[in-house]
Parts: sequence; structure tokens; C-alpha cells
Amino acid sequence: MTTHIRTCTISDKPAVIALWAAVFQQDKPHNDPTQSFNQKINHADDLFFVAEHKKTLVGTIIAGYDGHRGWIYSLAIDPRYRRKGIGTLLMKKAITILHNKGCLKVNLQITGNNQDLITFYKTLGFTIEDRISMGKNLY
Ligand SMILES: CC(C)(COP(=O)(O)OP(=O)(O)OC[C@H]1O[C@@H](n2cnc3c(N)ncnc32)[C@H](O)[C@@H]1OP(=O)(O)O)[C@@H](O)C(=O)NCCC(=O)NCCS
Repeated sequence: MTTHIRTCTISDKPAVIALWAAVFQQDKPHNDPTQSFNQKINHADDLFFVAEHKKTLVGTIIAGYDGHRGWIYSLAIDPRYRRKGIGTLLMKKAITILHNKGCLKVNLQITGNNQDLITFYKTLGFTIEDRISMGKNLY
């Protein structure tokens, strides 16, 4: 399967929002797909990638780097295109770019005890770490 990974642009907005609306829960204001897209695209740090197959947007990934740790967010593959290696391609792209920026450690969070996701991330060398994840809403 020929799948192209490229930087996300503003013209991807409708397709990205539709994918996130289909794949992710939108139970919290900070998970609103439109707001998430606008904030990341305007942040303009070149760490927002999409996977395209025959001009169809089939996957997304957001990475973040603050000079200390790298983070992975919003990895989503269109359900019709799963188990074809596209999630792996997006993860490898994000990790390569983070590494090129000098990042020495990449973190990500999984909601709940999702064994399928754990299996997926383990194929990429991620391990479960003994941490407690905390957060605070700023709204
Ligand atoms: C998780 C996700 C990104 C995987 O994307 P994908 O393109 O299907 O993954 P890949 O094809 O690259 O999978 C690589 C390997 O990971 C493992 N894997 C992937 N999905 C799996 C699943 N559902 N169950 C078990 N193992 C899985 C397999 O070992 C797979 O290799 P194989 O197909 O040769 O057996 C995709 O299922 C998805 O978008 N899920 C919903 C959104 C989500 O939960 N995102 C993560 C937020 S933390």
C-alpha cells in the first residue's frame, strides 16, 4: 500500500476533524476536534503529520517537544485502513523528527487498560512505566 506521510496543512482541516470526531471521544472541552486542530496548526512547530493514501487522508499524529521530553498525541487511523502499517509509519515519522530535534525520551498516555493499544506501542519499543499521570484543566 502506498501511503505518504506529510506535514498537516490548513487545507486538511475538514478531513482531520472528521477523522478525530469518528475516532476519539469528545467528552471534554479540551478534546474538541476543531479547537485542537486550530491550536496545533497555529502553533506552527511542524510536529503535526497526516497519512495520505491515494489523496485520501487516513491518519494523523501530533507530536510535541518542549526541549526536554517528546510527547505523542492524537494518533488516529481511519478504521478502514487499520492493520496496514500506517500507524507505525506515523509513529516512526514523529519519533524521527523528535530525535532530530535532540529529544532523548518520548512519552505517551493511554486511556484505560487498552490492551490493543499497549500491544501496538510495544511493537515500536515502548514499555509501560511506573508513573501516575496527573492533569489539570485550565478552563
Ligand atoms: C492504534 C492504531 C493507531 C494502530 O494503527 P494501525 O495503522 O492499525 O497499526 P499498524 O498497522 O501499524 O500495526 C502495527 C502492529 O501493531 C499491533 N497492533 C495494531 N493494532 C492492533 C490491535 N488492534 N490489536 C492488537 N495488536 C495491534 C500489531 O502487532 C500490528 O502488526 P500486524 O498488523 O502485522 O499484526 C489504530 O488502531 C487507531 O487509530 N486506534 C484508535 C485511536 C487510538 O486509540 N489512538 C491512540 C491514542 S493513545
